Amino acid sequence: MKIAILGNGGREHAMAYEISKSPKLKKLYCIPGNAGTSFIAENINLDINDFNEIGKFVEKFNIDLVIVGPEKPLVDGIVDFLVKKNIKVFGPNKKVSQLEGSKIFTKKICEKYNIPTAKFGIFNSQSKAINFLESAKMPIVVKADGLAAGKGVYICENLEGSKKAVEEIFNGKFGIAKQLLIEEFLEGEEMSYFVLSDSKTFKNFNTAQDHKRVGEGDVGKNTGGMGAYSPSNLINSELEKKIINQIVKPTFKAINEMGESYTGFLYVGLMIKNNEPYLVEFNVRMGDPECQTILPLLNSDFLTLIQSCCDKNLDKQNIKWHNKKSLCIVLCSKGYPDDYKKDIEIQNLDKIIEYRNNFIFHAGTKISDNKILAIGGRVLNFVCISKDFKSSRNSAKEKISDLNWKNGFYRKDIGHKIID
Ligand code: AMP
Ligand code: GLY
Repeated sequence: MKIAILGNGGREHAMAYEISKSPKLKKLYCIPGNAGTSFIAENINLDINDFNEIGKFVEKFNIDLVIVGPEKPLVDGIVDFLVKKNIKVFGPNKKVSQLEGSKIFTKKICEKYNIPTAKFGIFNSQSKAINFLESAKMPIVVKADGLAAGKGVYICENLEGSKKAVEEIFNGKFGIAKQLLIEEFLEGEEMSYFVLSDSKTFKNFNTAQDHKRVGEGDVGKNTGGMGAYSPSNLINSELEKKIINQIVKPTFKAINEMGESYTGFLYVGLMIKNNEPYLVEFNVRMGDPECQTILPLLNSDFLTLIQSCCDKNLDKQNIKWHNKKSLCIVLCSKGYPDDYKKDIEIQNLDKIIEYRNNFIFHAGTKISDNKILAIGGRVLNFVCISKDFKSSRNSAKEKISDLNWKNGFYRKDIGHKIID
């Protein structure tokens, strides 16, 4: 098969790596890809938000299947666009991608189908929102409705902070805002539960916990994710039944009752308290860096699974996992998530040996004049799978020390809740 993966992050490199192992693969393209994907696929420098260009390329090169990595093209309707051209594509359509594209869309489903989630209010004016906040219990959570690259969520400790959040959102910090969401603050521990769906059947695609804050001990600014581990230690069969029966099934029922169906990954972001799940968010794709953490544990052919989703026969597949503990540490450019330098060379990467249980997935990198340059905030993902999380973390840290990239920094405490 000829496959194209859209995206340029660590998630897409991890997917490309898994797919490159498939006996079914004839040719792999990454659009646009990164330095890492260029070693296992052909990178094609196109803008994934320019659907016409993508469509033309896919038709010209007779690509059999397109896999969409990130959320923006999904929310903007790339699946609908390609399906109209009779192109096979893995990912949810525009309507159901609203599960990530609009937090209010999701909350309304939660309300109608009785899905456990934080209590909330939808406000369509600054004055109404502030009026409500004046007598609200703190901390409280203020959220922009649409996609905001993880930045549209404010956890507010006091009235002043919450008012500022409301002002910023209505002043258009994340695009034109006609309404916003105010939510009760949920206590507990976060866990991500992944689902693979072919529109008729769904299956669990493992669990993970990530570390969103930039600083050790989970302090400081929010980032795209500084590291993750899989599986989560919170999952157990009782909790899984609740997640499926109280959250996943009612959501797919809601989608079916809208006359829609869901194909692709569904990322179920949860808060777990006393073994009870509460929905925090849906994402309509794999997580990053959760994907880099989960895929090395997969003991089935990834391409076959993706294909079975597009062909609606996921029920025939058995998803197998290695019984190991996976941990990913993200090496970032100094300054991230604020400003950082670009085009800084990463030397000696070719000298780091990736044994069978060690993986380096690239994120913000490119190749120029045979040199690997860092061009993004999150640069490299060091993943290790082993018998326990501590060994996996030590091994990932060793590789980062071996590389000794002077412009980089990373969190040494990934997995601290279960290791230290
Ligand atoms: P979201 O984009 O909705 O997932 O929010 C980003 C992050 O903010 C989540 O991963 C949580 O860490 C945090 N968060 C969001 N909503 C809540 C809530 N109601 N209570 C506590 N933390 C929350
Ligand atoms: N790591 C969080 C996300 O992918 O949304």
